[in-house]
Amino acid sequence: MTRERSLSTPLPPSLRGPGANTSSSPIPGLDGLAFGADYNPEQWPREVWHEDVHLMREAGVTMVTIGMWSWSKLEPREGEFDTGWLDDLLDLLHEAGIRVDLGTPTAAPPAWFFRTYPEARVVDREQRALGPGSRGMACPSSPAYREACERITRMLGERYGSHPAIAMWHVHNEYGAPVGESFSAAAQEHFRRWVLDRYGSLEAVNDAWGTAFWGQTLGSWDEVLPPLPTPSVANPSRELDWRRFSNQAILECYIAERDILHELSPGIPVTTNFMAHTCPNMDLWRWAREVDIVSNDHYLTAADPRNFVELAFDADLTRSLAGGHPWILMEHSTSGVNWQDRNVAKAPGEMARNSLSHLARGADGVMFFQWRASKKGAEKFHSAMVPHAGPDSRVFREVCELGATLQDLAPVRGSRGGADIAILYDWESQWAQDLPWRPSVDLGHRQQTQSWYERLWRDHHAVDFVHPEADLSGYRMVLAPASYLLTDAAARNLEEYVVTGGNLVVGPFSGVVDECDGVRDGGLNAALADLLGVAVEEFCPLRAEETTRIDTTAGEVLDVQVWTEDLAVLDAEVLATYADGPVPGGAAITRASRGSGHAWYLASDLSIDGLSGVFAEVYTRAGITDSDLPADVELVERTAEDGTRHLFAINHTAEEHTLTLEGRTLHVAAGAVATTTVPAQAAVTTS
Ligand code: GLA
Repeated sequence: MTRERSLSTPLPPSLRGPGANTSSSPIPGLDGLAFGADYNPEQWPREVWHEDVHLMREAGVTMVTIGMWSWSKLEPREGEFDTGWLDDLLDLLHEAGIRVDLGTPTAAPPAWFFRTYPEARVVDREQRALGPGSRGMACPSSPAYREACERITRMLGERYGSHPAIAMWHVHNEYGAPVGESFSAAAQEHFRRWVLDRYGSLEAVNDAWGTAFWGQTLGSWDEVLPPLPTPSVANPSRELDWRRFSNQAILECYIAERDILHELSPGIPVTTNFMAHTCPNMDLWRWAREVDIVSNDHYLTAADPRNFVELAFDADLTRSLAGGHPWILMEHSTSGVNWQDRNVAKAPGEMARNSLSHLARGADGVMFFQWRASKKGAEKFHSAMVPHAGPDSRVFREVCELGATLQDLAPVRGSRGGADIAILYDWESQWAQDLPWRPSVDLGHRQQTQSWYERLWRDHHAVDFVHPEADLSGYRMVLAPASYLLTDAAARNLEEYVVTGGNLVVGPFSGVVDECDGVRDGGLNAALADLLGVAVEEFCPLRAEETTRIDTTAGEVLDVQVWTEDLAVLDAEVLATYADGPVPGGAAITRASRGSGHAWYLASDLSIDGLSGVFAEVYTRAGITDSDLPADVELVERTAEDGTRHLFAINHTAEEHTLTLEGRTLHVAAGAVATTTVPAQAAVTTS
């Protein structure tokens, strides 16, 4: 089978992720790229609004997000609205040519709401009701909260649905954080209904949750409870269903608001800002189907000196959620944040490099939290586009430079990214894998996925993320670094991919459980044993700091930590064996040939360096060519509908590099980004 798909070919619909965004210019009325910030002018007297708009124009701001924290100002008493200030603000922005992403304020209900409806507060697992005086939504299952959200959203939709300033609607803020679950009485009842809908009978619930173990059999619906504190570890299958339910309960809140806005503001796209890789509470494959434009917030982890790799991961994941279509970077920071332990300020140039890294990976907008630094409140030490130091500052000068760069890059808008390599990513599997009482706490979904991603990143290969049940047929190589939970449909999908010519690499502790977190008949990796040609007889995790050695048939010696497995080889070639450790002589890396494809199994948690050899073999078999770009220099590509290619060379090193791209020379200064455009049909090579 041939796997020919160049980046200039639009993805077939079957390859798109579930993102509903299908337009190549996603924000109506915006000619170029979106550039701006969360704008919270409630904090300032009106003179400052005028200065703000003046500075926004100086910086090249094209869009701001407003209203997200305005509920108490918009509805100071239940059912009484005060919108004069917002009318004026929208008019002011409109006159200045600044588009508005209008937020619904449902992530911060007013004090009167909590006083009137104390039962609507979020209740945590320990049964503590969380009070007002901060932010974070009320209980998503609370009828009073849902009703209040609908009322304020309807008011906004009716009043501003056709206001000429409005470019987008921005529902809520970061669903899933800080509240990803609530254990209130309403939530308990809601969960019971959800369980009834999912399983239909108590017998089916008992079966799915394996309640026969530890005598947990449920005899009546009243006994179906969320995972409240228990003396010992709680039933893991119920915990997994609780995560699914919590995701659904919160998603229902979004959908209710979105539907009102679709009704009252037709043609204006609705989004809500995700945290693709940084908040695992929400199953974003489900969410991405429900938004008109995918948008995402990303903040660097200051403690990680190579945090630009995680940034790339997050941006690739977001592009994948959008099905390859453009998306909006809704928030990031101009410099340090204020909520990490040590909030490192960004170095000169770093903000631009971060911004263009997102842009290169498909963002059609670069937005920040927030426009002007707050004088009071919890985030007064968070950086902003206008810092406390004012406009005569390095940060503001860099903001203005970025604004000008984005104006120059306007032709990039609407172009798309894609890849020949896919990594399987599934929030449900992550939730299940990271539950307590697993063979080793050291093997985690995030770390496994990130190491495999970083190997590809260092090898300069573009990556999409896909759900394990998605169509894989266009990918030359598919990686499953952490597929602990695999449905039967996903297992069949992987088999189909391999036998029709695919190259699949599977990581340790994969194919272990079904969607109920139950081990299948047939062994610890029954879902994949035939495909991989190996059966896992036993997991053999290592002690903390323990290291064991793997010898490969290619002559490599690899040290591994954390994890080994005792494999029975059924029908596969052994590519590496353990030299010592719990299973000396046992198979550690295998390859099976199936149909016209191949499936590798890595029964250890190999380091980023250790993955190098096996990935190199897979690249060769998959026809993926090596890159000779310098280390820590990225070349990222977006392709327009007419085949024009926009190339971004991103230099994360302290030296200048010179790249040759199909006859043209591109200098990329230390820590900078250089861009070039290749007209349709011209081929590009790098040296
Ligand atoms: C989140 C929120 C913002 C702000 C930033 C600070 O992303 O959405 O309101 O609190 O964090 O980094």
